Amino acid sequence: MTPFDAGAARAQFPALHRRTARGSLPVYFDNPAGTQVPQRVIDAIVDYFVRMNANSGGEFATSQASDAMVRATREKLAAFLNAPSADEIVIGPNMTTLNFGLSRALAHRLAPDDEIVLTRMDHDANVAPWLRVAADRGLQVKWVDIRESDCTLDLDSLEAALTTRTRLVATVHASNAVGTINPVAQIADMAHAAGALHVVDAVQSAPHVPIDVQAIGCDFLLCSSYKFFGPHAGILWGRYDLLAELPAYKVRPSKDKPPYRWETGTPAFELIAGIGATMDYLESVGGVEAYVEYERELAAHLLEVLGRLPGAQIAGITDQDRMAQRVPTVVWSHERLTPTEIAVQLAARDIYVWDGNYYAVEIMRRLNRPDGMVRVGLAHYNTHEEIERLEATLRQIVG
Ligand SMILES: Cc1ncc(COP(=O)(O)O)c(C=O)c1O
Repeated sequence: MTPFDAGAARAQFPALHRRTARGSLPVYFDNPAGTQVPQRVIDAIVDYFVRMNANSGGEFATSQASDAMVRATREKLAAFLNAPSADEIVIGPNMTTLNFGLSRALAHRLAPDDEIVLTRMDHDANVAPWLRVAADRGLQVKWVDIRESDCTLDLDSLEAALTTRTRLVATVHASNAVGTINPVAQIADMAHAAGALHVVDAVQSAPHVPIDVQAIGCDFLLCSSYKFFGPHAGILWGRYDLLAELPAYKVRPSKDKPPYRWETGTPAFELIAGIGATMDYLESVGGVEAYVEYERELAAHLLEVLGRLPGAQIAGITDQDRMAQRVPTVVWSHERLTPTEIAVQLAARDIYVWDGNYYAVEIMRRLNRPDGMVRVGLAHYNTHEEIERLEATLRQIVG
């Protein structure tokens, strides 16, 4: 395979070339919180307003162009996720809102003393909606733990949590904190063997690994386009029969077929145009698979840098031979400086990282990190030079 050309990718992202007030180029290591967008995505959003700004279902040209664009975007998203049909692609404001909608509908299938299984690794967007359903319906909640040594999911604790009363298993594909990639196909099999549905949060995997809902075999999968170089929107894929049958919360006159019955109100059409262009961008670089190897090299480099930083402690997989089991999102803490102090000092030198718990509430509790940790999250447009700049800057900061 030809090596990934990060320079050519970078050239397409105007934000990466915009100097700060201090005159330096910022280093975007805040990617797990949201990525930058290529020019073609920006252009597509502007173009929507110029050429097809209209509501859906009209008898005139702009409305028909807008509807055709939405249809085309759904087709592209179906290809991106390897979904059997574009009618299984629901587009909404963000993953959290879509998951709350899904959880409300699924609640109708759940009765007191049914059980649901959640993990200590998930972002709260795939925890809180289910806890609310559990409270409303009197369900039992079982937790899947992590192995602290490498922050992988403890599948023995999943096995132990599954019973004949389990109705739902909700797991994250890749952690937004420790970066671990979970064996979701295996988890889907385990959930189904117990007679439960499996909901996968792919928000942090979609920017880094090719997603194939059919190979995973889950029932629902959610992601967010702003995490993979697109506009702020969320995507829900669901099995067609379930999307057709579950009681979605909708107004009466709106269409009763999937995906429309899950999309309440008028969508942000311009952003859907942007998502279509995001898919075109990814296709133009050869798809996510084109840069997987490059990102693994970046992750290995970052782990090396943090591994030799005096006073730094990394949580998660660090073994260079296991880069395929993680995304390039690395969390760490320092023996003396707080995560916020480090993030503030890096920000003062135009290096953007995250601090706190990034809503990964359970894992930060489990790791006993009340202040959270520093998160350095890489994307395919980051470079080895930027990691070197991080190292030099951190050495100044930690002294
Ligand atoms: C793993 C994970 N799941 C869910 C979410 C929530 O996504 P959204 O902002 O689209 O609601 C995030 C956001 O950071 C995330 O990292």
